[in-house]
Amino acid sequence: MSVKKESTLLEDLNQALAGETLAAFRYLYLSKIANGISSLPLATMFQEIAREEWAHASAFMGRIVQLGGVPVSRPAEMEKRSFLSYSEPPRRGNDLKALVKDGLKLERASIEFFQKLALKTRDSDMITHKMAMDVLAHEAGDEQKLAALLD
Ligand SMILES: [Fe+2]
Ligand SMILES: [Fe+2]
Repeated sequence: MSVKKESTLLEDLNQALAGETLAAFRYLYLSKIANGISSLPLATMFQEIAREEWAHASAFMGRIVQLGGVPVSRPAEMEKRSFLSYSEPPRRGNDLKALVKDGLKLERASIEFFQKLALKTRDSDMITHKMAMDVLAHEAGDEQKLAALLD
């Protein structure tokens, strides 16, 4: 792999790490603020997704280190480098639809990002390619689960 290609790949992987870390935080936040009579299953779902996003962050951090790169290490940097620019999460925990839509926006941005990463690495880096495809499948699953709630 050329040096230029490799640094672009590390930059992409750091964007993935930042985005997934913030996603884990955001879902945890959503799970805690969700309230109201029918909020329990949604809070549980958000908590499960938060755990999943954290596992994605772990995979990308591990890959960055394997490739000799330096993972993003400061929270402020996460906000700058995430594949989805960070906005304040919803405030009203009883508006469950708004919470679901917030998650959907995140999943759709993730899907777009990982589709691109999977394509970029298809012929150059099988390991990262497989990782991007696996995460992409998870995000698509999250997207479907959340979208179904709004039907
Ligand atoms: Fe994820
Ligand atoms: Fe997700």
